[in-house]
Amino acid sequence: EDPALLEAFEARVAADEFIEPKDWMPEAYRKTLVRQISQHAHSEIVGMLPEGNWITRAPSLRRKAILLAKVQDEAGHGLYLYCAAETLGTSREEMIEALHSGKAKYSTIFNYPTLTWADIGAIGWLVDGAAIMNQVPLQRTSYGPYARAMVRVCKEESFHQRQGYEIMIALANGTAAQKRMAQDALNRWWWPSLMMFGPPDDNSPNTERSMRWRIKRETNDELRQKFVDITKPQADFLGLTVPDPELKWNDEKGGHDFGEVDWDEFYAVVRGEGPVAKERITARREAWENNTWVREAAAAHAAKKQAREAA
Ligand code: ACO
Repeated sequence: EDPALLEAFEARVAADEFIEPKDWMPEAYRKTLVRQISQHAHSEIVGMLPEGNWITRAPSLRRKAILLAKVQDEAGHGLYLYCAAETLGTSREEMIEALHSGKAKYSTIFNYPTLTWADIGAIGWLVDGAAIMNQVPLQRTSYGPYARAMVRVCKEESFHQRQGYEIMIALANGTAAQKRMAQDALNRWWWPSLMMFGPPDDNSPNTERSMRWRIKRETNDELRQKFVDITKPQADFLGLTVPDPELKWNDEKGGHDFGEVDWDEFYAVVRGEGPVAKERITARREAWENNTWVREAAAAHAAKKQAREAA
């Protein structure tokens, strides 16, 4: 690679300019973005499954309508993100094939099962809350199409977070059994939510370069800390207990101290050994196969239309 081009590229990034699809970029920058954006897209798509599981069992028509809209939003996020990745020269088919063959990663969080209705509250509150924490800074990521996709995604994620927290408020103020259910969901989703931010900085192979190229604007540990600091008071407000005996305010650092994530569990789930990992990929593969006829029909329709217009 031409050192002068690289220098000019790094200067643009350092000046907070957006890099656009046709601009020169180092191959490693392109590769990192394809990896991160496609993993992000896959996470949105696989992320529809744990919640989709509760659409038919939502406790009221209102809850069902909200959940349905939220799950549809996640599909939209996935599609924006696939488009953003396509501007880097990869195809939708390649990305989807990588997901289905197990080559591509998606967020560990979606490999845990949704056992009760309270899990839908906890996912909105914690999982979408963690997603926002990670994605708000990505609105300033150096790659233009990714940054712009994040603007709308973040607005929708805020609504998702609030609908989840509102479910938690209802349960926490409900019967003793409902409150127990809310606590149980918090117990099961807390640690996996902290894992969403990725490995600790000193064990994160991509952070240093991604920070330099402003693909990432904050490190994994910085975002995890912010998430804990914002979420702990929200748990207090619900009257629920965060399942971490080491969690306490540290005046000196102006943030909470908290316990160590079980990194062995994290790496096992990253390797594809999560509790419902097989079910998730099987569901995606089956959806792809069962919907072949839709893709074929759409392609046939487009070809016919084009032929008619050309005639
Ligand atoms: N789940 C699965 N894989 C993960 C996770 C996780 N929670 N955290 C890190 N990894 C993977 C990384 O993708 C990387 O894998 P690879 O290099 O083999 O592709 C490896 O572990 C090492 O981690 P890092 O060096 O820290 O990787 P990176 O710099 O990409 O940081 C992070 C990881 C923070 C997830 C980053 O990619 C990111 O911000 N992505 C965009 C947000 C996103 O994907 N969110 C998805 C969940 S939110 C939602 O969809 C609702």
